[in-house]
Amino acid sequence: MNLPSKVKLVDVGPRDGLQNEKSPVPAAVKIELVQRLQDAGLTEIEVTSFVSPKWVPQMADNAEVMAGIARKPGVRYSVLTPNLQGLQAAMAAPRELWPDEIVVFGAASEAFSQRNINCSIAESIERFAPVVAAARAAGIYVRGAMSCTVGCPYEGEIAPERVAYLAGLMKGIGVQHIGVADTIGVGTPRKVQRAMEAALQHYDLNDVSGHFHDTYGQALANTLICLQMGVWQFDTSVAGLGGCPYAKGATGNVATEDVVYLLHGMGIETGIDLDKLIDAGQFISEFLGRKPNSRAATALLNKRAN
Ligand code: HMG
Ligand code: MG
Repeated sequence: MNLPSKVKLVDVGPRDGLQNEKSPVPAAVKIELVQRLQDAGLTEIEVTSFVSPKWVPQMADNAEVMAGIARKPGVRYSVLTPNLQGLQAAMAAPRELWPDEIVVFGAASEAFSQRNINCSIAESIERFAPVVAAARAAGIYVRGAMSCTVGCPYEGEIAPERVAYLAGLMKGIGVQHIGVADTIGVGTPRKVQRAMEAALQHYDLNDVSGHFHDTYGQALANTLICLQMGVWQFDTSVAGLGGCPYAKGATGNVATEDVVYLLHGMGIETGIDLDKLIDAGQFISEFLGRKPNSRAATALLNKRAN
């Protein structure tokens, strides 16, 4: 098996995890969550998104959160920017408060592109192009997220050719890294493998990542097949928080705790302290008034209690 010896996890909990919460989560709580994640050893954290507050009210405090985090050397902080307005808002602050990385997010499905960002796939690429150019000119790294790479809530199954098509468009406008997202968690390993292979037609193995929501309980299996392909970067969400406001019923990303347990159990390094990570997950879960949505966290918390 061609397994990587090290894996980088990007915790998307503060953004993907919280964006769908109905009650406002105070900026101070988001800031503490970021702090706890970096203390646990995460080296990349998706902090917030610079999107329309009318579309996603929970992320309206984006600038306050970016200004409030205490940056740790060696940690990269990323934010979502769907258009130039979003990038300009992220860069309106003094340089030390800029994100290290921005994410433009498109979809392999036309219907999801319309619902999520109010434009077609072709229009989204036109919007992203100046964002990518401006970010790169400012020394900000650019990641692209591709939603609905195996299934769409509106269109059903998505063919790998459509993933390859979008990845090619993203490559064409200078997006440096591409994430293959199973937005609604319907993927199973062979399908996810085909979506990942489609992305790899345009991107190097070092420039792709997996982003798996766990709606159908398949995210760990999907992560494992990608590891077997040599993929070593994944987005995960502490305590399994989250869901997308434009993908009704879809649950959060696979829990960071579960992926760390899987990786450490396989002898793959992450640099993450699972105990501290579980504490971070408990912190935010307690604030939200629910239990962490992570099997590994639940098991280890039970063990601690005994
Ligand atoms: P639009 O309505 O087409 O944009 O929305 P517009 O340019 O016509 O502007 C309309 C209004 O929005 C104006 O305000 C703008 O100022 C404002 P008004 O004049 O009406 O008061 N506006 C903005 N405000 C703040 N920041 C901005 C911004 N842009 C415009 N950047 C837009 C287009 C993309 C903005 C909108 O559709 C939007 O915000 N969508 C949010 C989508 C979103 O955040 N989805 C969740 C994240 S993606 C995700 O979760 C998937 C991922 O995890 C991978 C996966 O799992 O698949 C990444
Ligand atoms: Mg997502």
